[in-house]
Amino acid sequence: MCGIVGYIGYREAWPIVLKGLKRLEYRGYDSAGIALMNNSGQHIYKKAGKVAVLEEFAETQDKSGTIGMGHTRWATHGVPSDRNSHPHTSNNEKLSIIHNGIIENYATLKEELTNRGHDFKSDTDTEVLIHLIEEIQKIEQIDLLEAVRLALHEVNGAYAIVIMDKEHPDRLIAARKGSPMVIGVGKGEYFIASDATPIIEYTKNVIYLKDGEIALITREDLLIKQLDNVVQTPLIQELELKLEMLEKGGFDHFMLKEIYEQPRSIKDCMRGRIYPEEGKVQLGGIKEFAEKLKNIDRIIIVACGTSWHAGLVGEYLIEEYARIPVEVEYASEFRYRNPIITEKDVVIAISQSGETADTMAAIEMAKERGATIFGICNVAGASIPRLTHAGVYTHAGPEIGVASTKAFTAQVTVLTLMAFYMAQQKGTITTSKLIELLTELDHIPEKIQIALESNDLIKEVAEKIKDSTNCLFLGRGSGFPVALEGALKLKEISYIHAEGYPAAEMKHGPIALIDEEMPVVFIATQNSSYEKVISNIQEVKARKGKVIAIVTQGDTEVKKMADYCIEIPDANEAFLPLIATIPLQLLSYHIAVMRGCNVDQPRNLAKSVTVE
Ligand code: F6R
Repeated sequence: MCGIVGYIGYREAWPIVLKGLKRLEYRGYDSAGIALMNNSGQHIYKKAGKVAVLEEFAETQDKSGTIGMGHTRWATHGVPSDRNSHPHTSNNEKLSIIHNGIIENYATLKEELTNRGHDFKSDTDTEVLIHLIEEIQKIEQIDLLEAVRLALHEVNGAYAIVIMDKEHPDRLIAARKGSPMVIGVGKGEYFIASDATPIIEYTKNVIYLKDGEIALITREDLLIKQLDNVVQTPLIQELELKLEMLEKGGFDHFMLKEIYEQPRSIKDCMRGRIYPEEGKVQLGGIKEFAEKLKNIDRIIIVACGTSWHAGLVGEYLIEEYARIPVEVEYASEFRYRNPIITEKDVVIAISQSGETADTMAAIEMAKERGATIFGICNVAGASIPRLTHAGVYTHAGPEIGVASTKAFTAQVTVLTLMAFYMAQQKGTITTSKLIELLTELDHIPEKIQIALESNDLIKEVAEKIKDSTNCLFLGRGSGFPVALEGALKLKEISYIHAEGYPAAEMKHGPIALIDEEMPVVFIATQNSSYEKVISNIQEVKARKGKVIAIVTQGDTEVKKMADYCIEIPDANEAFLPLIATIPLQLLSYHIAVMRGCNVDQPRNLAKSVTVE
């Protein structure tokens, strides 16, 4: 949450920082600000609203300078407003700061600083930190780097910060703990950002700043220290990201592009991992734990939001094929309980961003209690892959639309592969069965392509239900997590209230909601619960609900009852979630567009939830 960008070098900083903020806007977009330094001093421009509002506001201002930093905000402390926007300045206005994260003990620090005569101009925790740094520097009479280091010892919470000093227009100071930060290394220039997307067009060489590290960055040099003052040798890595991955490529929205990318992203996810002719799955990332997997007692999956839904699909698959008991937990609940975890447990943490604060805290707790931790992440080099013992990347490519689409299906693909891999290790599946399943899995991308071809029909359905105020999504078995995911997509981007439910649970409560105004979306494909779902559809029709059904190609039964049917290709039940999710993503997308919503940046949300 919150995106930060910094630049120091020989080029004009404004366009680099501004473009970087646009790339990072998915992390938060309620206000934005940029600070620059040039011969006439320090200039700070900040505005509530999107980066475009800031751009317009600063159009006629002095934007020269080869050192600068910018911030796009997702509000935690203080409403989105001009004065709460970053950068914030110290009491003497010589220092300025941008910050991603939360300073938990800000209230106590603020009180102490107020007693010492500090005046605060905003309601933010961030402003308290820069005042604290100024105060420490003043009292101790030390260099700014040292003052920042000492101040960071006094704060609790998470941060990625960049600091500019009016008196030293030749350096930036950056630090991180719990929030991500990448430093791009150029010739005579450095870039700083929350992720690599603002950096990629200038350099492929990056350093991922580690937790508890602080950096002093000048045009020519970079010094990295740990907070305990030990100097570090930076590890420069090469980015694999490509610029075209960050563009809309002719689509109206990133979300639509990402929905259409799924046949490709799932192929990428499976590449080199499945061998259908031999009936074999290879997962290099967890290979060293292959033996351990034969004897584990239990798997606990921890995740949030859409990733949690993927976890529910994983539960179904792992229990079905590997016969290992699975529990799926919201990371935010799990970490605050006192769960029973043993050394024989494997915890699988699922996260697109690899930065979700609750998921990270859940991992840390399970690790302390001796569990083996696997990660399923999309963003390479993020914090979660570093925290885990082993893991499997989803390789879905950058997901920029805030609502997760291709990352979800890639997570489900990895979980499918893990289920088969564990089954293979434990001997709970025969090679001939694996040959059959993997051969079909190999062709799932083509089936997804066919599912995408229903787009025009889905648009027509969207037109019919776009003005609804509520919507129910019902499914059974692995269709249930699909229903949950369909409901989440609809509510988060169209702001229509939607609930996902196991179809059979409807009669225990939600059935009371059904009337002629209520659209009910059923996952009604021909699998083991088909007959039961048909009964549930009848129950809805008997109460005059509007039924939209996702059905298997060629279905005739459901067609007799449903108001609208969207066909998807037939597939083994194990692969149903990968295909049935597609029409639900498109349905939410079209409804949101028709309602005039900002599909890629829905209100109040951010792509990477780095606050608890
Ligand atoms: C919904 C969505 C969120 C995320 C959740 C976890 O479309 O994207 O629910 O799934 O915030 O994020 P990650 O997967 O990055 O840990």
